[in-house]
Amino acid sequence: MKRIMLWSIMTFAATGFNAQKSDNSLKKAFQNKFYIGTAMNLDQIHGTDTKSVDIIKKQFSSIVAENCMKSMYLQPKEGQFFFDDADQFVEFGDKNKMFIIGHTLIWHSQAPDWFFTDKNGNNVSSKVLKQRMKDHITTIVSRYKGRVKGWDVVNEAILEDGSYRKSKFYEILGEEFIPLAFQYAQEADPNAELYYNDYNEWHPGKVKTVTQLVKNLKAKGIRIDAVGMQAHIGMDSPSIGEYEKAILDYAKAGVKVNITELDISALPSPWGTSANISDKVQYDEKMNPYRNGLPKDVQIQWENRYEDFFKLFLKHKKNIRRVTLWGVSDNLSWKNDFPIKGRTDYPLLFDRQYKSKPIVGKLIRLAEEGR
Ligand code: XIL
Repeated sequence: MKRIMLWSIMTFAATGFNAQKSDNSLKKAFQNKFYIGTAMNLDQIHGTDTKSVDIIKKQFSSIVAENCMKSMYLQPKEGQFFFDDADQFVEFGDKNKMFIIGHTLIWHSQAPDWFFTDKNGNNVSSKVLKQRMKDHITTIVSRYKGRVKGWDVVNEAILEDGSYRKSKFYEILGEEFIPLAFQYAQEADPNAELYYNDYNEWHPGKVKTVTQLVKNLKAKGIRIDAVGMQAHIGMDSPSIGEYEKAILDYAKAGVKVNITELDISALPSPWGTSANISDKVQYDEKMNPYRNGLPKDVQIQWENRYEDFFKLFLKHKKNIRRVTLWGVSDNLSWKNDFPIKGRTDYPLLFDRQYKSKPIVGKLIRLAEEGR
């Protein structure tokens, strides 16, 4: 009898301990700080990659679609919308009570050609492009009204020197395409948060134009809730100081900051941290040095870099709405193919076996210490 009691006490203690340990998630640790999210690819959205899905449910409080809500997928032909994948993505988020993000309404990349051209292949008039933008935005935002809580309304419209990217949107409509996009989104779902999202958004030239954009939108009575700073970060660049200055400048302009698309590449970069997806560099063995694993010193350096950035995010948690990783595990990261195809990179929090890296526990502790 005594032995049975002892056994059951021990079992209880063990399960109790495990239960506590399994609660030990990023989602829980960061719950009073900011949302912590991940991008989802199609295997995850369809539920076939069950290992990833388990991690996403346990660890993350927010999700964004890595590709399936971009215009070339949602409206491949004019007026022909394809919603199957996006619907499943939003259902997953609803079911798991996640803060769902829509990415992205107006972007020059991964946009279908028909958007900008007439049947002879010439640029459409500004009137036609406005109507197409309005139809695209209204149809999508209305469909997920109240469910998608925030939209990347415009993506990557400003260059590092602060000038506007000479995209088709800009060529046909000038700077006006940005306020128009925000206005259409706001009309379709007045309660959704609306964001401007870009890479290298710590570059002083970009910061200047983006803060000006925020002020212009606000002056026109158009809503913008946050600036999304894509965080495709390298080992050496940007510096914490550069990043911090940008967060403070955006906060001063009256918006929150979303840290979006976070991944820290462990590999050498041919040019810094641009994430312009049409730029590609030829494969070169020298640029793929860690095919069989990260050396200890690089791994430590990489972990320190993650910790330093999270310390910064926690320090500015009042100004930060969300931190979203650009994927779950290293094997699925776009960084293995960008900017050089066919490399082995280590940018995310879970390894190629879907095991959490030691950094996960460290980030959890960091968040808990700051409580
Ligand atoms: C990337 C995806 O991760 C890839 O799967 C796809 O092939 C190209 O686009 N900036 C963005 C993201 O806003 O949508 C991009 O995502 C990465 C750069």
